[in-house]
Formats: sequence, structure tokens, C-alpha cells
Amino acid sequence: MFNPEEINSLIRSRRSVFADQYVPGKKIPDEIIQQLLENANCAPTHKLTEPWRFTIFTGEGLKKFAEFQSELYKKNAGDKFKQDKYGKLATTPLLCSHIIAIGMKRNVSVPEMEEIAAVACAVENMYLSTVAYGIGGYWSTGGVTYDEEAKSFFGLQGDDRLMGFFYLGYIQTPSVKSMRRPINEKITWIRE
Ligand SMILES: Cc1cc2nc3c(=O)[nH]c(=O)nc-3n(C[C@H](O)[C@H](O)[C@H](O)COP(=O)(O)O)c2cc1C
Repeated sequence: MFNPEEINSLIRSRRSVFADQYVPGKKIPDEIIQQLLENANCAPTHKLTEPWRFTIFTGEGLKKFAEFQSELYKKNAGDKFKQDKYGKLATTPLLCSHIIAIGMKRNVSVPEMEEIAAVACAVENMYLSTVAYGIGGYWSTGGVTYDEEAKSFFGLQGDDRLMGFFYLGYIQTPSVKSMRRPINEKITWIRE
């Protein structure tokens, strides 16, 4: 039904494409983003908890996101405040077409690790979809990802987790080939 060669090639050509590699501000049709999200929704999920939650920023929404993350950083950075980091948080989102905040809605019927794993599978589905659509994307756990105060801005609360952001844009500068150590260094076969 599917051509394995084609699927292998798609998976093996997946790359992270960062915001400074995008055509600044060029918008991907929302219909394509919706397809990425539909694919995310097909991720495996123990007990069908479907823990992934996404908030999608685009257009003026990107300015809202940029202002939120830069101002929260400024408020909480204390002695560690760096003007260039503040500047990047305030401007990098504006290079993107869409930014998808990645949330995990906690359900105590399965261990937290499994809920995080399910969300990561959903993100990988989006990553692979970017290859099919010829667009760039990457998962960032930078910015305010681990700031407890950020959660409510993305509709999360309590033991829910903010797991970062999926940045998206049309590719201006493609990523170079990914370097990986061979799989044979990381596997063990037990045959008898
Ligand atoms: C959970 C997770 C968090 C990540 N966070 C960041 C990040 O904050 N900043 C960044 O530049 N890349 C981030 N990345 C992307 C990695 O840098 C990227 O996957 C790695 O460089 C390998 O490149 P490739 O994805 O093109 O194979 C993250 C990836 C994962 C899986």
C-alpha cells in the first residue's frame, strides 16, 4: 500500500530547520498546518489519553507570543538577564509562519513518562509531515518552556506540562545533512 523506499527516504531526510533559515514571515496556508495537527493526533497513546494540547500562533498572534515570552523572561531572569536573549525572544517569532506551543495534559491513569512520550510521538508526526510538505520546522525547548508561570498562557495548569514550541516557516536556507553515529553502535540483537 505504501512504498517503503519512499517512507524510508522521508524519515531519513527529516531535519530541524531553524527560524533564521526561514523566508521571513512568509505564511504557510493554515490548511497545511491543520494537516500537521491531524497527523500529530494519530500518535500512539496508552489508554487513549491523547495528552497532546496545541496552541497555534500566527499573524498578529506571533507578536502576542513574542511579547509574552520576552516580557516573562525579563520579569523572572533576575541577575541572569541578558539583553541579547531578551531581543531574540522578542523578534525570532516574527520570522516564523506559525509557532505551535506543545502541551501535555496530565492524566493520572498512566505514568507521566508515558504521557510525555505520547506527546513526543505527536511532535515527530509533525516533524515528518514538514518533509512531505516541503516546509521547515523544529522543536524548541528554549524561551519560557520551563517557567511555571508560562503554563496558563497556553491553557495548561497544575501537573500539565509545557513541552516547548514547534517553529514553522518556508525554507530559505536548507539544513545540511544530519550526522548520526551508526545505528549498529546502539542496538543489540538476541537471536538464541
Ligand atoms: C525535545 C527536543 C528539544 C529541542 N530543543 C531545542 C532547542 O531548544 N533549541 C534548538 O536549537 N534545537 C532544539 N531541538 C532540536 C535539536 O537541536 C535537533 O533535533 C538536533 O540538532 C538534531 O538535528 P535534526 O533534528 O536536524 O536531526 C530539540 C529537539 C528535541 C527532540
